[in-house]
Order: sequence, then structure tokens, then C-alpha cells
Amino acid sequence: MRKKIVAGNWKMNGSRTDAEALLKGIANAEIPSDVEVIVFPPFVYLPLASELLKHSSVKWGGQNLHEGKNGAFTGEVSAPMLTDYGCKYVLVGHSERRSLFHEDLPTVARKFKAAQVGGLIPILCVGETLEERKSGNAENIIQQQLASVIEAVSISAFQNAVVAYEPVWAIGTGLTATPEQAQEMHAFIRKELVQHDAAIANKLSILYGGSVKADNAVGLFTMPDIDGGLVGGASLEVKGFLAICQAAVYDVSPQ
Ligand code: PGA
Repeated sequence: MRKKIVAGNWKMNGSRTDAEALLKGIANAEIPSDVEVIVFPPFVYLPLASELLKHSSVKWGGQNLHEGKNGAFTGEVSAPMLTDYGCKYVLVGHSERRSLFHEDLPTVARKFKAAQVGGLIPILCVGETLEERKSGNAENIIQQQLASVIEAVSISAFQNAVVAYEPVWAIGTGLTATPEQAQEMHAFIRKELVQHDAAIANKLSILYGGSVKADNAVGLFTMPDIDGGLVGGASLEVKGFLAICQAAVYDVSPQ
């Protein structure tokens, strides 16, 4: 049975007060028992997350990591530092990291590896831009993003990882992929991985990300290859985020 996951990527938003209110709201809520709920606050609020979520089933993680363990890398945070604060997951290769911070395919692959070596579960984000989609290159791009990681770590590493399909054109734009468009790409991703190892591919949770909201989550999450969501903007508000977590309960993926 595939794990259903709803993850909230706060990005660089909110103050300490906002973070506290959001974490408390989530910690005190009833979380569906068969959904893994994860929050990704900015690094500086991770101690707060570990304090406020320690008695809840909600997990937390880093939005990024450095590929090394320690050293002269001003401004960076490593996997051991994240696990020190109880992180279980880390986002790797988010499109904002790839485009704004110039993380190329080998860098993303090294970060994926560093996450696992450091005891974290990487959530590997893949996705195409609008231009790439329009020019018919979407599948090629996704294929390359997956292949570079598989080459670096081998398919067996995906036993302990999550993939998030996030079309860049849908992130923060309000333009959600339709459930059918998303399903098509999720099925493609699974098919790519099946070629390497069917058992691993069929057990892998593949999340959809890009303008997921309470009112479109059920439509997306009930598609057969969509196992939950990576939520940006809508994860900054307790009620809406919890409604999205609830939507994952209706997931009808093959068990
Ligand atoms: P969004 O962001 O939900 O605000 O579109 C998703 C993401 O970037 O993970």
C-alpha cells in the first residue's frame, strides 16, 4: 500500500509568531491516521517545529540541504544538522532551487544522496516549465531529472524516497494542472521507474504540487497515481491545510 502524504512547503514566509500559530494549529488538530502530514518551515523555525510537534503525528523537514556534512560553506545547512532537530524529510531539487539558485542535475543528485546518507527521506521534486511543456519536451525533462538521480544512487534508493511532480507553470500561479494532466505525468513517472524496478516504482509515493488548494485537492488526490500533495501557499493557513490533509483520505490509489 502506498503511503499517502500531504506536505506543506512554507518557503520563506512568515514570522516566528506566524510559525508558532501555524504549528500549534496543526499540532492540536486531528490528523487523519493514514496520511503522513509533513511541514517544511524555514530552517530557523525547525527548533520550534520539533518542540511544538513532538507529541503529534505530524513530521517536519528541511526545505533544502547542503551535500556535505560540514565545512566552510557559509550559509548552508547539512543533513546531520537537520536530523539534530528531528527532521525526517528534506525537499530536494525544488524548482525554485533549480532555477533561482542554479542547482543543476548533478547537484540535485548529490543532495538526494547526502540526504539518505544522513538519515533523511528525500522528496525529489521534478517538473517542467511552461515553455518545455509547450514545445512537447515535458516528458524528456522529467525523464532527465529522474535519470540523473537514478544514475547517481541506483533505483534501490527510491525505496526510501518520495517524488513530487510539480509543473513549474502551476507553482504559485493559481494555475493547477487538471487532475487528468497531473495523472498523465504521474503515470509517466511511475512507468519510467518501473523500467528499473517495478516493485519499487509501484510502492513509491508520487505527490502532486502546484497550486493545490482545499477545493481542488480531492480531484487530484483521487487519481490513481497521485498519492498526495506538496502544498505551498495553501499550507500557510491552518484550516485550508488541514482540509487538504483530509482530502488525501479519499485517495483511491491501488492498494
Ligand atoms: P504552491 O507551491 O502550492 O504555492 O503552488 C507548491 C510548491 O512550490 O511546492
